[in-house]
Amino acid sequence: MKKTLLFAFMALACFTGLAQQKQPVLSIIPEPRSVEMIGGQVTITPQMKYFANSEAAQQAAEVFVQFVASNYNFVLEKGTMQNSTLVFSEDDALPAEGYQLTVARNKIVLQGRAAGMFYGVQTLQQIMPLKPEVKAAKNKIIVPGVTIKDEPRFAYRGFMLDVGRHFFDVNYIRKLIQVMAFYKLNRLHWHLTEDQGWRIEIKKYPKLQSVASQRKETMEGPYRDGKYDGKPYGGYYTQEEVKQVVAYAAKFHITVIPEIEMPGHALAALAAYPQLGCTGGPYEVATKWGVHKEVFCAGNDEVFTFLEDVLTEVIPLFPGQYIHIGGDECPKDRWKTCPKCQARMKALGLKDEHALQSYFIQRMEKFLNSKGKKIIGWDEILEGGLAPDATVMSWRGEAGGIEAAKQKHDVIMTPNTYLYLDYNQGNPATEPLAIGGYLPLEKVYSYEPYPAELTEEQKKYITGVQGNLWTEYIPTEKSVDYFAFPRAIAMAEIAWSPQNKKDYTRFMNSLPRHLALWDDVRLNFRIPEPQGLADEVMTGANTTVTLKPSVAYGTIRYTLDGSEPAASSTLYTKPIVVTAPSNGTTTLKLIVITPSGRASSVYSATYMRKDYKTALNINPTTKGVKFDAYFKTFKQAKNVGEGKADSTGVLPAFDIRPFTVKPAFGVRYEGYVKIETDGLYEFKTNSDDGSILAVDDEVIVDNDGEHAPTDKIGMIPLRKGFHKISVKYFDAGGGKQLQVSFGPKGKQSVNLRNALFH
Ligand code: ACM
Ligand code: ZN
Repeated sequence: MKKTLLFAFMALACFTGLAQQKQPVLSIIPEPRSVEMIGGQVTITPQMKYFANSEAAQQAAEVFVQFVASNYNFVLEKGTMQNSTLVFSEDDALPAEGYQLTVARNKIVLQGRAAGMFYGVQTLQQIMPLKPEVKAAKNKIIVPGVTIKDEPRFAYRGFMLDVGRHFFDVNYIRKLIQVMAFYKLNRLHWHLTEDQGWRIEIKKYPKLQSVASQRKETMEGPYRDGKYDGKPYGGYYTQEEVKQVVAYAAKFHITVIPEIEMPGHALAALAAYPQLGCTGGPYEVATKWGVHKEVFCAGNDEVFTFLEDVLTEVIPLFPGQYIHIGGDECPKDRWKTCPKCQARMKALGLKDEHALQSYFIQRMEKFLNSKGKKIIGWDEILEGGLAPDATVMSWRGEAGGIEAAKQKHDVIMTPNTYLYLDYNQGNPATEPLAIGGYLPLEKVYSYEPYPAELTEEQKKYITGVQGNLWTEYIPTEKSVDYFAFPRAIAMAEIAWSPQNKKDYTRFMNSLPRHLALWDDVRLNFRIPEPQGLADEVMTGANTTVTLKPSVAYGTIRYTLDGSEPAASSTLYTKPIVVTAPSNGTTTLKLIVITPSGRASSVYSATYMRKDYKTALNINPTTKGVKFDAYFKTFKQAKNVGEGKADSTGVLPAFDIRPFTVKPAFGVRYEGYVKIETDGLYEFKTNSDDGSILAVDDEVIVDNDGEHAPTDKIGMIPLRKGFHKISVKYFDAGGGKQLQVSFGPKGKQSVNLRNALFH
């Protein structure tokens, strides 16, 4: 017991850097433009007084006073210019969101305009000690001497929340606003209408509340298997609540941008007012995810009246300049056969349904412009011609954003490949069910919003970036926390910090202190893998693994015997010496436990003591694998391939469908896999009956024998380049199945159609 306590204390001391270090490392996220450590320090005490030279300065001061009160339990009082050592000074000479913070000679001075001072306060909060650090410094709140000059790289720094698929109440939106502001994000894109629910009160259309805000079933529970729990689901924000959110956000210097979707993703509205659809209905609020064919009719003037009425109620609630009108994923099926839509096209000489969508968006833009608002739309609004003053939100990669910038339109970059925060954050096998994709923290961080092909002049149209949280598979507040954080924090750094300050190692070194702070208020962020956990191809009998918890003052518990780690497993206190026999493998499994006691998923690393397979000296360019099929009964996959084949050819991947008409068969595939980087690769088969997978003629996955669908996994270190792959499979009758996948260990599998050659 004593020993454990001592180790715990030592582990703590390692992180208690601020008070003791001569040259402390600050952990500010997003990293400011310029940080100069000037030595010395200032101690914040209850006797300290603050002074604010204007109303805006007073507001910034109050944010800080509140932070000190909730974290350190005392209230700073207002003093005079003479007796105050905490000075908030409005300064019009600085850029709108810029600030200058100086901690020196027993005085803290913050200068900026209103938003700038607010951001300066966020920075000051981030360089304050965490509670354990205050304790370690004998209850002193020490802030290191520093001069920080800062301003954002991009004006638009957004986060989008989809409340259509799942509804989150106003209290939770407030919490999100607080976290956003802490990272200097300034736009909350509120996705308010969807096929699965209309979430904003519109007084002129009461059925939007009584019908469109409710759906029959939810997709909670075991929807992994496509089952529904049968319980109704719904909710909407009253206009009063919307006003409260907008006002609350404004205090945090966040503009709320409402999205009212058109012409697609409108099924909930159609369920309430079926005359607004091409067929007239009846319609039901969607209970399934995906893109629905029922959309607003573009040939019916009543639709425009409805949308103008809706926007007329929406506009006064949102003082910001922009209204998002969607525009994405609008199937044209109904328009193609709708007499009204076709008549409109004919009357206006529109050449196709894309032109009709463009007409729709332009007509709505004209209306919104007449009310003093500008529109934002998803990149589909480029199709058929952009509305004259529209801002484009580029989501299907960057192509739409690039095209719009070339057409001199403002662009917000939110490519799904980097900024869709509903994608998986890690190995799908150990992550909660997600819509798909693979977007680990590092990939979000790596995003550069200026596409290389744009000229300096065109780059000026890229106004910023946004992380999008679609909530099909994110039903609760806890799951929003989990998917959004820490990835939105990485996104905030892309949005704010100068490009030359981007440094993932520094970011990851800063993050643990932030996560400790959020753990303290029970934000359910994804606990990242500890630093130092990585698969390794061992060259000797042992290797030393040095880990660092991903949450400051957190702990790591681990096993080396393959068992699942738990709170009672070995506590990590010093580097682990991992041994493995020749040609053998050892697996380190661990959990990270936060200071509040929350445990991460089980993360693991494999240490494999085996020589790399060198790449073959070939460079095939033809995609797909060759096959030899035998139409007879096998008992073992290993016997497939002898004698003359009944059928030969090439298939894009390991596809058995061409042969399943035969009562029994065996097939051998042969080709090459393209390996992108040196490392440990995992190959997986699921087969019924047996299969054998070999790489460079060595069997890696032996899944042989007559059996029901069975998963088998094998691993092998591979050098970058081409390697031979062969798969033998047989079906002796009954169930037929062969699934093959591979990828860097613990990461998403590669797309076989891109990786196989012959
Ligand atoms: C989108 O993801 N449909 C904008
Ligand atoms: Zn129509």
